Amino acid sequence: MPDNKTENDVIANSTSRRNFLQAVGIGTSFIGLNAFVNPVAALAQCQAPPSATTAKAWGKDCRRILPRRPASTLSSTEVTKLRDAYQAMRALDTSDPNDPRGFTRQANIHCWFCTEAASSVHVHFNWKFFAFHRAYLYFHERILGKLIGDMDFRLPYWDWDVSSHRKIPPAYATPTDASNPLWNSTRAMDSNDEIPDEDVGEDVMDAALEADDFTDFGGTASAPGIPEGAPHGSVHNDVGGGSGDMAFFETAAKDPVFYAHHSNVDKIWSDWNKGSSTHTNPTSSAFLNLTWNFYDENKVWRSITAAQVLNHENQLRYVYGPSRFLEILPCLLQSVVIRTDWRVTKTLRFTPAARTSISRVLGSRGRVRMHLTDVAVPTDKSAVYRVYASPEAARKDEGPRGEGYLGTIPVVLSSRKPQHVHRKTRNAVFSITERKFETLSRAQGPMQLTLVERGVKENERKLIKVNAADSHFTIADVER
Ligand code: C2O
Repeated sequence: MPDNKTENDVIANSTSRRNFLQAVGIGTSFIGLNAFVNPVAALAQCQAPPSATTAKAWGKDCRRILPRRPASTLSSTEVTKLRDAYQAMRALDTSDPNDPRGFTRQANIHCWFCTEAASSVHVHFNWKFFAFHRAYLYFHERILGKLIGDMDFRLPYWDWDVSSHRKIPPAYATPTDASNPLWNSTRAMDSNDEIPDEDVGEDVMDAALEADDFTDFGGTASAPGIPEGAPHGSVHNDVGGGSGDMAFFETAAKDPVFYAHHSNVDKIWSDWNKGSSTHTNPTSSAFLNLTWNFYDENKVWRSITAAQVLNHENQLRYVYGPSRFLEILPCLLQSVVIRTDWRVTKTLRFTPAARTSISRVLGSRGRVRMHLTDVAVPTDKSAVYRVYASPEAARKDEGPRGEGYLGTIPVVLSSRKPQHVHRKTRNAVFSITERKFETLSRAQGPMQLTLVERGVKENERKLIKVNAADSHFTIADVER
């Protein structure tokens, strides 16, 4: 058999068990006997992926170690390669809709793991988030490279954490039509819009990169880590604007900028690991043995584990450029938790002792964070919510520079179908800067934290009392 063509044709036309078995007989390396859901057909419809048993274990990568480069500063040669690669991937959609390397099939992988998929498969809202997306991008990158005959190709990353790179990277933004394979017509941002500082600025990046441990940074088997919300979810909403492809996980990967966004999210994981000797990944076998399957660049169905993606430089053969945050990261001492009586009162209060510790730490350039655990969020739409210290401040909604502002909680829905809501709460961690502490200190008595959707006109604003399981502060001194 010259290639997968015949096999795919059989799959596409096969309705009977007999035909199917014949097809399996021709290509057992490709399809397993154990499951009648075959991956090629499942990919066409965004179904849950079939069992791992028929996949060949991913082994080693023989590519050179090369940098992924910032998407906003690509040379014209690099832009041409990137466009050629996506053009070729899109062309497969029509030339061979069964080719698992086609653009729609690639986008459907993400859909698989976040909509139809049972919660146990879902790659968001838990510690699968960073490892799964790294593996997914890895195979995507290899396919793009193969399609242009250049295994030195590496995905670019959209470094929206650099303040001059907050527009959609030019290669993806213009020309604004289908002649540009990196363009997507459903975006809310045009080529001049920028991701707001509120979503990707210092307060947000510090809270992510200074997370004490992997539980805070990358989550647990049942809860998400800090950056999966802000900045990751915020950027989805900014690009998708509540209704575009990027605003829902089921369609996000239909926008090529998704892969550049996630490459930067992947870089944040890499940066967090480098930030401190205590920033280590989980060592439990429950984490290390997490396994996913992907088609590789030769259409071979492969399995890869979380353990295999932890060292992206040696194993996956790419590195990232410097991080301006890492360069200025203070050496923080282990944080100290200041408990609150939130569980009882559902309001927040600075006790005199907390006030003293917080202002001492802020005065010596240490870090103060407010943590909210399991905040109930509206799940009727994808949106960014702002959290304020009081209903009055929420009603005014003056934003990050205004009174009583604490931070944001982005909500990205898995799907437009209401039955696919996988999680109704979010965790949030806010940097409490001196300026925020000052406005919060003005609050006499307990603070009634309040959510309001960002970007809603004053007379249409709905105030939502923050209903969270718990809240506490952490303070960390700088080592001297
Ligand atoms: Cu799987 Cu940014 O989402």
